[in-house]
Amino acid sequence: MSNVDSRVVRPCPRIGGVIRVPGDKSISHRAAMLTGLTSGGSTIERFLLSEDCLNTLRAVEELGASVNRTAAVVRIRGTGGVFTRPTGVLDLGNSGTGMRLLAGLLAGQRFASEMTGDASLRSRPMRRIKEPLELMGAKVELLGENGCAPMRISGGVLRGIEYELPVASAQVKSCILLAGLFADGKTTVIEPRPTRDHTERMLKAAGIPLECDGLRISLKGFGRAGPRFEGRKWTVPGDFSSAAFWMTAAACREGSEVEIEGVGLNPRRTAFIGVLCRMGAEIEVIAECEKEWEPAGTVRVKGGRLNGTEVGGDEISNLIDELPLVGVAGALAEGKTVIKDAGELRVKESDRIATMCAGLSALGVDVEEKPAGMIVRGASRIRGGTEVDSHGDHRIAMALAVLALFADTPVRIVNTACVSTSYPGFWDDLERMVDGRMVNG
Ligand code: S3P
Repeated sequence: MSNVDSRVVRPCPRIGGVIRVPGDKSISHRAAMLTGLTSGGSTIERFLLSEDCLNTLRAVEELGASVNRTAAVVRIRGTGGVFTRPTGVLDLGNSGTGMRLLAGLLAGQRFASEMTGDASLRSRPMRRIKEPLELMGAKVELLGENGCAPMRISGGVLRGIEYELPVASAQVKSCILLAGLFADGKTTVIEPRPTRDHTERMLKAAGIPLECDGLRISLKGFGRAGPRFEGRKWTVPGDFSSAAFWMTAAACREGSEVEIEGVGLNPRRTAFIGVLCRMGAEIEVIAECEKEWEPAGTVRVKGGRLNGTEVGGDEISNLIDELPLVGVAGALAEGKTVIKDAGELRVKESDRIATMCAGLSALGVDVEEKPAGMIVRGASRIRGGTEVDSHGDHRIAMALAVLALFADTPVRIVNTACVSTSYPGFWDDLERMVDGRMVNG
C-alpha cells in the first residue's frame, strides 16, 4: 500500500442524500475464512472489496480454497475441513483482524506457516494471541521486535482451554474460538466486556453449536480433522463503521440529513448511535431483517446543535472504531466531550489517541491528550488553510476529512491512500454527499 497521497477537502454548508455504504469489513474477513474451510461452494454477496479483505481472501486462496470474484459476488470452494500448506509467507497487509483471526485457524493445521503485514501491522501487539494459542498447544514465534509480527505458527494437536481475556478484544476472542474448532474438548473464552460478536453469530449460522452465557462463550472442538460444515450463501450487511462518517457529517450540522440503507445494526457495533443521540442528534433506526444472523436496516440522521458528552466503560468496545468520530463531534459540539477507558486506541492501525489529538489541534480544536482517551472542548472554529496527517491510518484520514467539511477554508489531508484498506469509494461518496446526490455503494 502506498501512503504517499493527499486530498483537499473543501468546506461544505450541508451534506445530504441517501447512501449504501460498502459491506462490513469484520464480517467480510470472517466470511472469507469460514467459507475457505467448508465442504463445497459458498457465495458471499456484498463482500467488501477493500485491500484488507482482499488480502484475507488471497491468504485463504493460498491455503487451498478456490476463489472466484466479480464486483457483486465472491464465490469460494472450501477445502473441506483443514487448510493445505501455503507455498510462501501470507501477507495480511494492514489488517489486525486478518492476522489475528487467521492465526487461530493456522494454529490447528498440520503444518507451519508464516504471516506478515505492512509496517503498521508489524508494530501491533501479538503476544495477546501467542499466549492463549500456546496454552492450547500450538507454537507461535513472533519474529518482529517487542512481540510483533512476522509470526511463525507451527500447528499442533490443540486442546481446549478456559481463557479469561486480559483485554476486551473481539479479535483475540475470535482467534481463540477459531482455534477451538480444531481442538480436542471444550474451549471457553471469558470477556472482560462485551465486544462485537460476529464470529459467534456466523459460527452459529454455519451450524456450529456455541454456548453464549453472558461474557462466557464456549464451543466443543472437532479435533485435528476440523469442523465439517457446508457451503452456503452469506449476504454481508453495510459497514456501520463506514456509515458512521456520514452520520457524523450530518449530525453536526443543522439542515443536513442523510439516510443510510442496508447497514449492519448489530447492537455490539452501534453504540455510536446512542452517543450522537445523547449529544442531541435526531436519529431514526428502521430495522429490516432482525431474524437474519446479523440485523440490518436503515439509519436516518438529522443534524442539529450538539452538546458534549462522556464515553467510557462498557460502551467503548461497542464503538471502538468510531472513537475518532466522537472526537470530531466533540470538536463541533458545545462544551466538554470526554473519551475515557480507551487505551486500546493506542494499538490500532496508528496510536489513535495521539494521531487524532494531533489532527484535531492542527485544525484549531482545544484537545487534551490523556493516557486512555482525550478531552475535547467545543464548539471550536475549525481552522482550515492547513495540512493534517492521517499517519497512514484509514479511520483517522476519513474522520479528519469529515471535520474538514466544517473548516473555514480548505484542508489538505495527507497520507490518504490508506483509506482503500476499508472504504475504497470514500472520496467519491464524499463528493456526492456534499452535492446531496444519491449514492449507491
Ligand atoms: C475487529 C475488532 C476490533 C476493531 C477492529 C475489527 C474485528 O478490534 O477495532 O477494527 O473484526 O474483530 P479489537 O477486537 O482488537 O478491539
